[in-house]
Amino acid sequence: MKTDFYRKTNDREFPSNLTDYDEMYRSFEWKYARKELDWFGDKLNAAYNAVDRHTHTWRKNKIALYWEDEEGNQKKYTFEELSVLSNKLGNILKDFGVERGDRVFIFLPRIPELYFSFLGILKIGAIAGTLFSAFQEQALADRLGQARPKVVITNKELKSRLPRVKHVITIDTEDFTKSLEHASDELHIAEMDPDEYAFMLYTSGTTGKPKGVMHTHRAILQEHMTAKWVLDLRDDDVYWCTADPGWVTGIAYEILGSWSCGVSAVVYAGRFDPKKWYELLEKYKVSVWYTAPTAIRMLMAAGDTLVDERDLSALRHMCSVGEPLNPEAIRWAVKVFDKPFHDTWWQTETGAICIANYPCMDIKIGSMGKPIPGLTASIVDDNGHPVGPNTEGNIALKPKWPSMMKTIWRRPQKYESYFAGGSPRSSSGGAGWYLSGDHGMCDKDGYFWFIGRADDVIKTSGERVGPFEVESALVSHPGVVEAGVIGKPDPMRGEIIKAFVVLGKNVKPSEQLKEELSQYVKKHLAGHAYPREVEFIDKLPKTRSGKIMRRILKAKEMGLPIGDTSTLEEY
Ligand code: PRX
Repeated sequence: MKTDFYRKTNDREFPSNLTDYDEMYRSFEWKYARKELDWFGDKLNAAYNAVDRHTHTWRKNKIALYWEDEEGNQKKYTFEELSVLSNKLGNILKDFGVERGDRVFIFLPRIPELYFSFLGILKIGAIAGTLFSAFQEQALADRLGQARPKVVITNKELKSRLPRVKHVITIDTEDFTKSLEHASDELHIAEMDPDEYAFMLYTSGTTGKPKGVMHTHRAILQEHMTAKWVLDLRDDDVYWCTADPGWVTGIAYEILGSWSCGVSAVVYAGRFDPKKWYELLEKYKVSVWYTAPTAIRMLMAAGDTLVDERDLSALRHMCSVGEPLNPEAIRWAVKVFDKPFHDTWWQTETGAICIANYPCMDIKIGSMGKPIPGLTASIVDDNGHPVGPNTEGNIALKPKWPSMMKTIWRRPQKYESYFAGGSPRSSSGGAGWYLSGDHGMCDKDGYFWFIGRADDVIKTSGERVGPFEVESALVSHPGVVEAGVIGKPDPMRGEIIKAFVVLGKNVKPSEQLKEELSQYVKKHLAGHAYPREVEFIDKLPKTRSGKIMRRILKAKEMGLPIGDTSTLEEY
């Protein structure tokens, strides 16, 4: 295979934060990064580090957040203002009886209240959980039913979807406006052990309901360092991360790691729209941009003239995450922006960027780059034995890295199942490898290449969806007996969700029913997790023990050989 390079020239006048990857990789240890943050002895608080510590410096009156929505409403907040608002929010939560270790969930669109609520929760030592605003009743009931938060912060519109929870704070009410006004702006910041929980995120696997991935205050160390090394964030940057804090990217690089670097961040609370996106890049003079391959492909499809009409000269560095970044997207970026997107790889569970392309390192186009300093990555077989170069295997990481999930909420065995050779909690003390669930390979120069998921997890438009949740939603429709759900490759969205559905005996298949089922999932589970394609079949392929073999559905869909069927029930 011939590799295409994007060669970097060393800009002596304007060197990147990380100037020599190899040297840093050789010499770096996490203890050296300690001084990058503010500590209370050996305790710390991630939210304090993201925002409050800047209020003791010249950044106090610097804009931390430029916010804009689809209607053109605009707001801006300095670091000082975010600090005060999150203090007030922390005090309001305390009045509700929220204590250290309690869960507080946020179910809001990307509005300023989401950001200062998140910070306020962490500042009092509670655990923040975020919920993507497209979630509907079923998805919310599963997550909140398991996490049992003391308070959910939401707005009037979204509140109606919530199951019964202990306390609800509705931010677009007179009550809330009043309590925010009256709340004290003085708050004692909780001094946290680095291993205490800071936030949790529900994410999907192949089987079962979503699991609560737990992250600690220590995670900010890696989020901060990678925001520096990989996103190359600096004081004079205007930075735009297009992710939603309902997902991990929006927490690690729209709140914690990025603000910790002191940048001014842009948040756009609106749907994807190429024209609008270029307008924002120009208007805010965005210099660093972190986005996702589906968005990049959609921008590509919208045509180059939209770019040509804009002055995007402020843009100096671009990164991508969440799904494979195809070589065409990089080549297109070089053509229209005169610079490439830098692919980064990580997961909800890893808490921060783990493998990346760096501003100072040549890009092998199509590769995810190399592990960050302080982290060992490898390709291993299912037993945790490293395989040689250019050989397919599991993308694996050596525990522990600072932002590694601490556990899965109330499911310790699930946590153990991520490791080959023992988790850090097991008697082996973490001698094994963390298996990411992704397949890939590493070439002889140490660059990692993504191949695909090792399991049935779906990535649609960069969003992670568990097939089981979609199947459960379909089966709750009265006309459906069984359903099998797969990710079907799609040139624009990476994958789309396709459902194979077995109907009840007396239910008549029709195009209208297909549409009805799609809409049903959209309405009950989530706006982003509905099947774009539905196919009726008589019977699902299953193992003798009754498990749906999605692998066979996928192979059939793609016209591929169906592989080993020895465990297959008669089909
Ligand atoms: O399959 C990998 C894919 O996204 C998964 C993690 O998804 P999530 O937990 O939602 O976190 C996404 C954002 C951090 C991975 O297991 N993925 C992530 N980055 C890449 C990727 N696939 C290919 N290339 C990437 N750069």
